[in-house]
Amino acid sequence: MGQCPVAVSGEAVSGALDRWEGRPVEEWGRRWRVPHVEMYDELPSTNDHLRVLAESGAAHFTVVTADSQTAGKGRSGKSWESPSGMGLWMSFLVRSDSEVPPALVPILVGLVATRALERLCPSLRPGIKWPNDIEVEGRKLGGILCEGAGSGAVVVGIGLNLHQGIEDFDPGLKERAASMEMAGCRGVSRSMVAGELLSAARSLLDPPPVLLDERLRQEVRDHDTLTGRTVRTEVGVTGQAIGIAPDGALLLEVEGRVQEIRAGGVMVVESGESARMEPRE
Ligand code: BTN
Repeated sequence: MGQCPVAVSGEAVSGALDRWEGRPVEEWGRRWRVPHVEMYDELPSTNDHLRVLAESGAAHFTVVTADSQTAGKGRSGKSWESPSGMGLWMSFLVRSDSEVPPALVPILVGLVATRALERLCPSLRPGIKWPNDIEVEGRKLGGILCEGAGSGAVVVGIGLNLHQGIEDFDPGLKERAASMEMAGCRGVSRSMVAGELLSAARSLLDPPPVLLDERLRQEVRDHDTLTGRTVRTEVGVTGQAIGIAPDGALLLEVEGRVQEIRAGGVMVVESGESARMEPRE
């Protein structure tokens, strides 16, 4: 693939591709109906690169991908494994004139991802684990990292594992990670996934809703993997997950009272019942 250096805010970034998956980069931009695409052989993090572009005025739905990331970021300061050829590591920019509750953005992006994955692989039953995991059969298939970039702009990062076998994951992830291939969805390329994600993003995030209406709440319920489970928050609150509020907060029943959790992550401490985990008929 051809490469050329690109300057972002005066800092030279090498490894920008002029072709990707057999087509010129500008052609992907036209196909995906987005204003600007940058694709790299390698970046530290597509989110960090897009944030710099956002600060220089990049447009709504500017897209950045990297074949591999050397410092891929997950939530809560964790790293995100992003080896070359194994998955889609992509960020896109969402600008909004309205105030979208911060907890809502990852949930909306979760719906974007489940819609895209179901179109690509109708037998897959992807779930959303609040706040930012995409799961399949109880394993993590992908993750979402949304970061504010000032003036109503949000950098949305998505990592989706496509081609790994179990042996390709680090030892600490083998028990809980999945890829599309492991879930039986073969022949799905990065460009197919990116195209479906951006198409779903255009229909749901252009502009983003400021609350989940009843139809979206039902779609979230249909994909929520936590409802019915006992979970513990990062600050040590234990309760039963009972759903997701219109502003994206996790609803936890704690000693008979409902608490709304808007920040941090949760750990499942007792499996309980989850509609999303039941086998398909
Ligand atoms: C998580 O589950 O903790 C979130 C993972 C998000 C990973 C993606 S890969 C593309 C984008 N660039 C990053 O550095 N992170 C996100």
